Amino acid sequence: MAERDVGYSTPGGVRFVKSSNRNMLFIGLGLVLLAVVVVAIAVPLALRNKRDTNTDKARRLMAEVPLVDGHNDWPWVIYQNVQNRLSQVNLAQDLRPLFKAWLNVSHTDIPRLREGKVGAQFWVAFPHCDSQYKDAVRWTLAQIDVIKRFVEKYPDVFQLVTTSEGIWDAFRAGKIGSLIAVEGGHGLGSSLASLRMFYDLGARYLTLTQACNTPWADSSLETGKANPEHNGLTDFGKLVVQEVNRLGMMVDLSHVSFKTMHDALDVTLAPVIFSHSSAYALCNHTRNVPDDVLERMKDNKGVVMVNFYNPYVNCGPNKTPVTNISHVADHCDYIRRVAGEDYVGIGADYDGVNEVPVGLKDVSKYPNLIEELIVRGWTDDQIKKLLGLNIMRVMDKAAEVGRMLRETMEPLDDIIPEQDVANQACRTVRT
Ligand SMILES: *[C@@H]1O[C@H](CO)[C@@H](O)[C@H](O)[C@H]1NC(C)=O
Ligand SMILES: *[C@@H]1O[C@H](CO)[C@@H](O)[C@H](O)[C@H]1NC(C)=O
Ligand SMILES: *[C@@H]1O[C@H](CO)[C@@H](O)[C@H](O)[C@H]1NC(C)=O
Repeated sequence: MAERDVGYSTPGGVRFVKSSNRNMLFIGLGLVLLAVVVVAIAVPLALRNKRDTNTDKARRLMAEVPLVDGHNDWPWVIYQNVQNRLSQVNLAQDLRPLFKAWLNVSHTDIPRLREGKVGAQFWVAFPHCDSQYKDAVRWTLAQIDVIKRFVEKYPDVFQLVTTSEGIWDAFRAGKIGSLIAVEGGHGLGSSLASLRMFYDLGARYLTLTQACNTPWADSSLETGKANPEHNGLTDFGKLVVQEVNRLGMMVDLSHVSFKTMHDALDVTLAPVIFSHSSAYALCNHTRNVPDDVLERMKDNKGVVMVNFYNPYVNCGPNKTPVTNISHVADHCDYIRRVAGEDYVGIGADYDGVNEVPVGLKDVSKYPNLIEELIVRGWTDDQIKKLLGLNIMRVMDKAAEVGRMLRETMEPLDDIIPEQDVANQACRTVRT
């Protein structure tokens, strides 16, 4: 458009057309020169306008459908830096100069969440694996507590939500829908009672393992081992999945072994999520999702939310020296192609990792990724699904399955067999 307008507005031939023949050569040369100048100005202008259009479009789409990111470890970073003492920190300021512990540079604060147009966020209550068999349940509670407290402390910014309707309500009110997630089955202390209480506190997904096996599930560290500890999910692990289903929570399979992924998909009655994992075929890290599991998303109708961490998006034989937005977009493209456009989302893992791609350095940069996907030809509908419609559909379905199950199914009161808990140090056993 701009290119053509500039072309037509040139003073061009009209004024000189009646000039004498003697001058024709000079006029011809002049016209060629003019044409070169016009092209030199108009082409870059047109390209810039096109880029601006895509930037505007990315922001427009993000204003229509909330970006619901699957995984952010801000609560852990708040612990690392101020031990959850919110009275000592203003989260509405630039936290980069302040929050140094664990991260090279912090990824999350209120100004940057706003700049990145984050619509809703699963905030992660993460008990470190070294608390397993000790005070993991207490850690999980402390991290749920800090999420609730920062949401309450900044009511103009955050709104605690537990459903997709809640996400839409918060979004329409200009607030960031704040969801609670529990990352790591060790946080339950092998107790279904803990699971139910976490649900009551608002948790809406359980990551079956973090980077350690639980007494009932293998983590990704077992993938590829000749003798994995449990070879996937134990019988009690299958009950955990069923109870998560019954509650209407979501099962999160990021961090579990490939065999655990398959075992969970065999027993779950609801769609599952990968809250922060990318595609194994592009980067052969065991934290990623292999093709045979991506294929199963078509039946399960879950969602794989792409992780931005450099070692998960750029590794293996095709590793390049610099990691940038193109790598992340490649994973989005790939999961869309193999699983389908209904089963892909975003779970960046900000504040949970310390190396992120050029162009996606913190939560303020999500629009860059959306723009890149627009450039790659994603339709508006496909982008809206990726942004939030897919994960919200899974939330709705998980809740619906839960309601259905609760009509006929009592809360599971099974107890993990004593011999399954190798380390009994933390347990008070009464008979
Ligand atoms: C961030 O810190 C980790 C170690 O904690 C290091 O391996 C990595 O290179 C650092 N990244 C940058 C961009 O400085
Ligand atoms: C990934 O690929 C690299 C290079 O081919 C190889 O060295 C590495 O062992 C592979 N990792 C896994 C987990 O298969
Ligand atoms: C990412 O880096 C590659 C070179 O490694 C480059 O070809 C590509 O254009 C970059 N992507 C973006 C979006 O800048």
